[in-house]
Amino acid sequence: MSESKINEVPVAEELAEPILTHEKSLSQKIARGSEARDILDQQMVMLGIQLVTQLNVLIKTSRIYERTNTALDKPVDTMLTLIKTMAQDQPVTLRLQNDFLFLGNSHLKVNAQQLAVASSIIDTLNAWKIGGMTFELTVTSKDLREFAALFVSLDPDNKTIEDLRKEINTRGIAGINLKDQRHLQIREGLGPKVQRKMNAKNGYANVVGAVGTLTQSASEGGKVSFKQAKRAIQNIIDRMRDDETSVLGLTTLRCHDQYTHNHSVNVSLLSMALANRVGYPKVELADLGLAALFHDMGKSTIPMEVLNKPGEFTDDDWVAMRNHPTEGVLSLSRMRGIMNLPGRMAAASFEHHMNLDFSGYPKLTVPWTLSLTGRILTIADCYDAMTSSRVYRREPMSPSKVLNMMLSKSGKAFDAVLLKLFVNCVGIIPIGSLVMLETNELAVVLKPAADKANAARPFVKVITDPQGNPVEQGREVDLTEKDDIGDFRHSILRLIDNTEYKFDTSRYFT
Ligand SMILES: [Fe+2]
Ligand SMILES: [Fe+2]
Repeated sequence: MSESKINEVPVAEELAEPILTHEKSLSQKIARGSEARDILDQQMVMLGIQLVTQLNVLIKTSRIYERTNTALDKPVDTMLTLIKTMAQDQPVTLRLQNDFLFLGNSHLKVNAQQLAVASSIIDTLNAWKIGGMTFELTVTSKDLREFAALFVSLDPDNKTIEDLRKEINTRGIAGINLKDQRHLQIREGLGPKVQRKMNAKNGYANVVGAVGTLTQSASEGGKVSFKQAKRAIQNIIDRMRDDETSVLGLTTLRCHDQYTHNHSVNVSLLSMALANRVGYPKVELADLGLAALFHDMGKSTIPMEVLNKPGEFTDDDWVAMRNHPTEGVLSLSRMRGIMNLPGRMAAASFEHHMNLDFSGYPKLTVPWTLSLTGRILTIADCYDAMTSSRVYRREPMSPSKVLNMMLSKSGKAFDAVLLKLFVNCVGIIPIGSLVMLETNELAVVLKPAADKANAARPFVKVITDPQGNPVEQGREVDLTEKDDIGDFRHSILRLIDNTEYKFDTSRYFT
């Protein structure tokens, strides 16, 4: 292949070089967490996105042209270069997990322009129930062409991944292996799923602890260190990239006397999950998470009697309440110093109640452009505040009611695109919702359906028998599962307002 072909891949072009020349085992020698390792990982991720892009081109082009057509030269040659660049130590593995693409263990984050390509590959893999594709160093141009031709000639509606594998063998295509979707639920080397959930929960406890210490020392006039909170946030991000669901499940944890702490942590987790879907890089995710953690800092200036007031708020109380975004910026700048206060931290506090259409507060007399941080925070904050019981709303609302209410304000109070991504994240029947199955059993939603076409059929855990008696160790049901004649095995009869049952669904995530 010629140099010029590689040059047509703009992003990978200059970054590919160090990897091409590095010694074979270099990536294993560089310590995890080191700066060099981070750079190497970033380069790999960029090359991975190129690989996904070219794979998509190859599949699309193969639908139109014969396998030997020159139209296939460019995607095939570029893919081979990418594979040979990346497969030094081990085969290149593209994986699909919970609708996220990974290169090996690295999440392939895509930007807005790359989103269409990524979704196209995700849909293709999902249609075949393919959990991963492995390309060996030995793969040839002929293998790639034959594979693409075979791939587009079969219909995933009447063929399975097994049929596809058999054909790959029969046709002597080497160097490409397909992995099942199911096997990828638990990643190698990470131990049992339970362990991961426990880790996530510890991470949550650490963040709650860190916020507690910070707010306490702030109110006592002590020195505040953000390092501890940042470290805890980084932990959470690592967990989230592994298993978004178990981290989001934690946001249903409610501890009522600790509303502000839990709320801050939940808003932080929800914002990071949303920003992760938007495609924030890791460093920015951590900054956003930290900013979100302190978005309600201004509440420390509101007297406890007001915050915990059992009765209605007076006009004065509301004034104090509505001042908390501005007070927050002031407290933060006192803590960090005005020069040291990152814009996104100030924005998180100042803008989180403004709303996209400026129907909220504070009211401004000058033109204002809401930051992305502010728009993300508005969604995460509203969702968590409404689903928790809080002082000025005695009873919490069920997650699905909250989501419906928010969707009715899409494009008005909330940024429509962000809200859509947020719904994808928590599911249209959100994590933590209580549902009644057609068997009259109650179940709690553990995670959204992997397949978007079946978004109303999440993965649930049964928690009562048909008479409503709690069952321990209830079975977990994938509501997209069909029986032999193609009917769904189980269906949701109706959504239950968890608040009606005074039900704490968080324990099902532990
Ligand atoms: Fe607030
Ligand atoms: Fe808030």
